[in-house]
Amino acid sequence: MPENSQTSAIGKPQRRIDGPVKVTGLAMYATDHHFPDLLYAVPVEATIANGRVLKLDTTAAEKMPGVRAIFHRANIGKIFRSTLGPGFEGICIERRPPFEDDVVRYYGQYVALAVADTFEAAKAAADSVRLTYDKKKPNVDTDLKADDDPEVVETSYGPVRRLQSERGDPDGAFANAPVKLDEIYVTPSETHNPIELQATIAIWDGSMLTIYEESQAIFNMRGVLAQMFGLPKENVRVITKFVGSGFGSKLWPWTHCPLAAAAARQLGKPVKLVLSRRMTFQAAGHRARTQQQVRVGATLEGKLVSLMHDYVNETSMLEKYHEDCGEKTAFHYSVPNLRVKFGFAMRNIGSPSDMRGPGAVPGLYATESAMNELADQLKIDPVRLRVLNEPKIDEGLGIPFSSRHYLECLELGGEKFGWSKRNPKIGSMKHDSLTLGWGMAGCSWLAARFPAQANVQLRNDGTTRVACGTQDIGTGTYTILAQLAADKIGVPLDKVEVVLGDTILPEGPISGGSMATGSVVPAVFAAADKAIEALLTIAATTPGSVFEKRKADELAFEGGRVFVKANGPVDGIPFADVLRHANLRLVSRSGKSEATFGEKKPKFSTHSFGCHFVEVTWQPEIARLRVNRVVTVIDAGRIINPLAGRNQIEGSIVMGIGMALLEHTTYDPQNGAPINSNLADYIVAVNADVPKLDVHFLDYPDKEINQLGARGIGEIGLAGIAAAITAATYHATGVRVRELPIKIEDLLKSSVLA
Ligand code: MOS
Repeated sequence: MPENSQTSAIGKPQRRIDGPVKVTGLAMYATDHHFPDLLYAVPVEATIANGRVLKLDTTAAEKMPGVRAIFHRANIGKIFRSTLGPGFEGICIERRPPFEDDVVRYYGQYVALAVADTFEAAKAAADSVRLTYDKKKPNVDTDLKADDDPEVVETSYGPVRRLQSERGDPDGAFANAPVKLDEIYVTPSETHNPIELQATIAIWDGSMLTIYEESQAIFNMRGVLAQMFGLPKENVRVITKFVGSGFGSKLWPWTHCPLAAAAARQLGKPVKLVLSRRMTFQAAGHRARTQQQVRVGATLEGKLVSLMHDYVNETSMLEKYHEDCGEKTAFHYSVPNLRVKFGFAMRNIGSPSDMRGPGAVPGLYATESAMNELADQLKIDPVRLRVLNEPKIDEGLGIPFSSRHYLECLELGGEKFGWSKRNPKIGSMKHDSLTLGWGMAGCSWLAARFPAQANVQLRNDGTTRVACGTQDIGTGTYTILAQLAADKIGVPLDKVEVVLGDTILPEGPISGGSMATGSVVPAVFAAADKAIEALLTIAATTPGSVFEKRKADELAFEGGRVFVKANGPVDGIPFADVLRHANLRLVSRSGKSEATFGEKKPKFSTHSFGCHFVEVTWQPEIARLRVNRVVTVIDAGRIINPLAGRNQIEGSIVMGIGMALLEHTTYDPQNGAPINSNLADYIVAVNADVPKLDVHFLDYPDKEINQLGARGIGEIGLAGIAAAITAATYHATGVRVRELPIKIEDLLKSSVLA
């Protein structure tokens, strides 16, 4: 606990400090910026998914009013490839620069770019570009068989071993197991669909490139663009003040960004490029479809003896994006014999990318579903099965967990839900005229820190300022930074100014992996400690100061005041007075913290844990299934802002309901287009689909992660929820769904009739 826990801003439900500017419309999102002479760009999308551009006729488009240029391979100028750098640098999931060759590898790939004085003129011109193709049949096959890849594959994040984890003799133990399960689980392609569309404004000033973009990782974007345009990093500035959600789709730069920058360079004018909703389905990432075989062997008592997880994820023709479904498998439960292995299936689709809870979300759907099915087979309560297989250590890495309270999550969740009243017989539980189905599942998410730097200022008007080059993607990072500074400096939240979202600031973490909060804690604290130390030296050395006779180390700072340690805080002087007395406007110091992510030899396995208990209602007369009740318990370390934290988990559950029942990006087998590429046909869960959600946090600080013990909460809530919903669906209807989303056609097979 921080020393001044009585008044601390940490752990209290705090409203968003950026709320007022958002609801009054003052918050400047990337595309809200306007500049003199701003031009508008609209990409031309390929209407085939496999083939080659034979002819590109821009004659009509070029003659249209207001049109400045139609760019294509011959006139866009040089755009270099970017490569992966050390750490989180140079990540780009579609590495091929736009227009690099005339090959079309997915539907909607940009093949030209119209730039005009207005958006409407640019759109009309883009629509008037005539293309002739050499067209081949696209491969968008949904049945995923692993390609013939080498054992170590070069993925978007560097080389990865396809054999992810292995111990004991999984095949032998499976063959001899008294109870066996061998099933295939399928999760569909899903599209992130943040409400704010992806967009870039690019401005050149000589050899300086400034980008306004809704990025989840401004420093990575700077690094990629510096490479693509052959510039030193300091010549590129990326600004992201507000983001209308990302869910991973805005983590890494997509091809529209260098296109806008290249067009601005060629024309010597600022260029704005905003994707259409359709384009975001085609060329801005999506969650990869997965096909996962899970084989489990167990004793009659329910002890796991073998677990094999073999999965394939779709990827594009350009990139091997690894949807890491197996990361949790090796440690989630205790099992002596295990193998986790994966492969890729290349398709004529845009590159998949990280989507909220990448890997874990489809992965835990499969493995937690297998646990539920095994429990049914054994006639053991699914909670009991999990308790029976609780590991003492992370058996995948052979190291202890930093903090694991999974069983307590299950216990509390069961208690809040009323799980003990469950009758396991299918269709046996009724309420009014509805059949009830109950199901549960566990979840987990990795916790680690990215490197971070921050700056803290104490100012002579009693305010403080914290600056960090991270982003707030709608999750509450502005508020968290304010809470951290308020806590350390001992000022109220409204006396803290937070500055983020600009690469001229100290380098901050990406807003990804649920790691931004955990990463900024030590950096902000280090900066604040240094600023306080500097303040004490000022207090002790200012002529005429009440502390003039003291040495700096005889002084202390608490609650915003400097005082003599020996006397205690009673006679403290506010830091504003100390600064004013020294004729200083402010004292400013920077701090930094190192990464724990990617450590070669970690001492602890740091993960968050949790579980979901779900009730569905089934109305056989009209084949209507609804999620009626959800209880979720999350063990994510210390919760810095329970209000924002709850909001993250609730939002994840809403997406989980969408994943289980609604969401599915469908590719047309004829032309390879994502055919439901709009918010009318791609259905997401809305208020009417979501019941009241009951979310609980355990709040055990994890001291291995940072001083506050705060892990991350952005993604874990979406893991496991689909498995809990399919289990509840089985309990209500007798229909076992192993391919998401659950469809009406599946439910019509129900044996539980009216
Ligand atoms: Mo998240 S998929 O790391 O934005």
